Amino acid sequence: MLRRLHHTQPESFAFTPANLEWAKGQITKYPEGRQASAIIPLLWRAQEQEGWLSRPAIEYVADMLGMPYIRALEVATFYFMFQLQPVGSVAHIQICGTTSCMICGAEDLIAVCKELIAPTPHTLSADGKFSWEEVECLGACANAPMAQIGKDYYEDLTAGKLRELIARFSAGEVPVPGSQIGRYAAEPAAGLTSLTEFESGRTQYNASVQLAVDIGDTVKRIDGTEVPLSMPWLGKSAKAARPAAKAKAPAGAAAPDTPAAAGVKPATLAEPRDGKGDDLTMISGVGPKLQALCQKLGFWHFDQIAAWTPAEVAWVDANLEGFKGRVTRDNWVAQAKVLAAGGSVEDAHRAAKV
Ligand code: FES
Repeated sequence: MLRRLHHTQPESFAFTPANLEWAKGQITKYPEGRQASAIIPLLWRAQEQEGWLSRPAIEYVADMLGMPYIRALEVATFYFMFQLQPVGSVAHIQICGTTSCMICGAEDLIAVCKELIAPTPHTLSADGKFSWEEVECLGACANAPMAQIGKDYYEDLTAGKLRELIARFSAGEVPVPGSQIGRYAAEPAAGLTSLTEFESGRTQYNASVQLAVDIGDTVKRIDGTEVPLSMPWLGKSAKAARPAAKAKAPAGAAAPDTPAAAGVKPATLAEPRDGKGDDLTMISGVGPKLQALCQKLGFWHFDQIAAWTPAEVAWVDANLEGFKGRVTRDNWVAQAKVLAAGGSVEDAHRAAKV
């Protein structure tokens, strides 16, 4: 299938202020000079905001990351999950057409889409509310046939059930995702045959459906205000750790600046005690460069790192030029506690994962 930019393009694209802040935060996950690595999450957020990826959106993201437009276009046109044409204003429906779904009735579902939405995939319905496409296995084969509608899965579908779902979405409802024949999860259609003792204590919905119901963004365009922005690798929530987003991202912008004053500066040493510091590279995630940077900041010993409070971690995370967020990401404090107590490197690395 040829993947080209759509013939009709909007004049411009811009992230909402909240999405811009989120996008800038994502860029801080990558080392200086490697901002382009954030291309997929940023393109995905642009698609979540608009429903599809327009040329202005792709170029806007390329500008944020300092990438040539062609490089961003290569990514956007390579991955099928990026929609390069407008999708339905209410929902884009993805029907799984792979083996399990196909033998359980996917063709009937596609016939419904052709009848109610448009005869061809990636085409808007007459009222602009829906579009559809056939996709490869979505990993819910035990509950075939199924469709992804917006962000969630609707399973155990029939042609009649799909008609009903489309009518309800069209009326502004968001039907509960998951099995549409009352299955709790992927147990046998006739009911549990084992582990039946757990049946009585379970929650109303399985975890995936419950989360979808709780979040409630099944077919919502994401503007960044849905959940509090959280960027744990910066040591605290982004809203607390970062200044208000600037109005416009400069072309070719590098990693956004995190205020050097974020958090609380830990106690430092001008030089190592007894003239010799610990080998900080024993901490998983710390290499010679990062060790030199720590030493420049005044951190020479495991016990110094082991004593950092969350506020101090935030300060160090914000001041590791080129390595921002590494303390949290690699759980240095837990590792340093083990090493300061004489534990092995293996134990320290294990502690980082707890
Ligand atoms: S075959 Fe349809 S979800 Fe796997």
